[in-house]
Amino acid sequence: MKRMLITGGAGFIGSHLVRLFVNKYPDYHIYNLDKLTYAGNLLNLKDIEEKPNYSFIKGDIVDGVFIIKLFEDYKFDAVIHLAAESHVDRSISNPLEFVMTNVVGTVNLLNAAKHIWKNNFDGKRFYHVSTDEVYGSLGEDGMFTEQTAYDPHSPYSASKASSDHFVRAYHDTYELPVVISNCSNNYGSFQFPEKLIPLFINNIRHNKPLPVYGKGENIRDWLWVEDHARAIDVIFHQSANGKTYNIGGHNEWKNIDLIKVMCRIMDRKLGRAEGTSQNLITYVKDRAGHDLRYAIDSTLLQKDLNWTPSLQFEEGIEKTIDWYLANQIWLDDVTSGDYLKYYEKQYVSR
Ligand code: NAD
Ligand code: DAU
Repeated sequence: MKRMLITGGAGFIGSHLVRLFVNKYPDYHIYNLDKLTYAGNLLNLKDIEEKPNYSFIKGDIVDGVFIIKLFEDYKFDAVIHLAAESHVDRSISNPLEFVMTNVVGTVNLLNAAKHIWKNNFDGKRFYHVSTDEVYGSLGEDGMFTEQTAYDPHSPYSASKASSDHFVRAYHDTYELPVVISNCSNNYGSFQFPEKLIPLFINNIRHNKPLPVYGKGENIRDWLWVEDHARAIDVIFHQSANGKTYNIGGHNEWKNIDLIKVMCRIMDRKLGRAEGTSQNLITYVKDRAGHDLRYAIDSTLLQKDLNWTPSLQFEEGIEKTIDWYLANQIWLDDVTSGDYLKYYEKQYVSR
């Protein structure tokens, strides 16, 4: 049985990936290592937590001694590393936390993999999940390819860029069998409501102001989170060592246009007169260092490994809004902090 470590599996993308792997690969044992920061929520995995090929481990990737011991005890064959501090606004208020988790945490995992695998890399793989933000910001034209030079602007993207460089350095220096992917903005279920789409769905639902940064003219390239998980699956199993793949949906939206679409859909679903939710739009001070435009060219992934996004945005955004409206208890637990009690109930005191 393959022993797979997935880090950050209680977060947004991680929980979708853990679910996919646990259900699709009964002959893999999936170990989900997560510190359960404010962004980690075990309720995201309630449907698979009793599966025999799944285990949860609470722990911090910044703790190097703990990580080495963990690899010695469990002898993982493969790692898919998603654990990170992921919110740009938080990185602006507290950059050091991003350096610790995203850079030091990643190097701790690389060291542990190198230590335990020695020079026998047969069947081994270290997959690092990264972001398109490492490439910086585009003007009106062009797209990020795998050859685009790194040019990060926020402490978040600088920390992710640094971690990518370390992963490549461990490949080039120690021949560690690594793969990296850089993905555009994800959307879908189980995303913490500090990010644009779930935050605005929740605010519309409660008739609260929608804080649009600057003029709302920044552009993001949105991908359905389950398509990201599918891409990771394909790359994990089929990529050559040392490769990088960009993942994206060719789906660019100006923030303000996307927000208006969400307002229209929610007016309809909540039985409000058309235009009601749009009145909640409030222009606020721009994010410092706000990247203007991201757009991912994922041709290489489509050509090499035959991956394409499965869902059109029009369908995806409807499904996403439906999910948050149908899962108001999840949203309420997350916004009130009640979800933090779940670990205690499920894993400590029973
Ligand atoms: P998230 O914030 O929802 O989840 C991060 C998870 O990591 C949480 O469960 C958290 O508890 C855990 N974690 C944080 N610090 C930890 C530590 N020190 N030790 C162990 N666990 C820790 O993030 P996400 O949006 O799911 O992103 C996952 C990964 O994908 C990140 O590496 C991010 O950079 C990358 N990414 C995200 C997007 C996106 O649109 N969300 C796009 C491209 C790439
Ligand atoms: O591109 C991939 C990245 O996408 C990931 O690496 C990050 O982890 C993820 O958080 C996301 O980063 P963004 O900064 O693009 O996402 P966010 O949802 O925070 O913001 C999307 C856009 O909406 C951005 O232009 C800022 C704007 N925004 C965001 C918030 C939270 C607002 O106008 N108002 C808001 O309240």
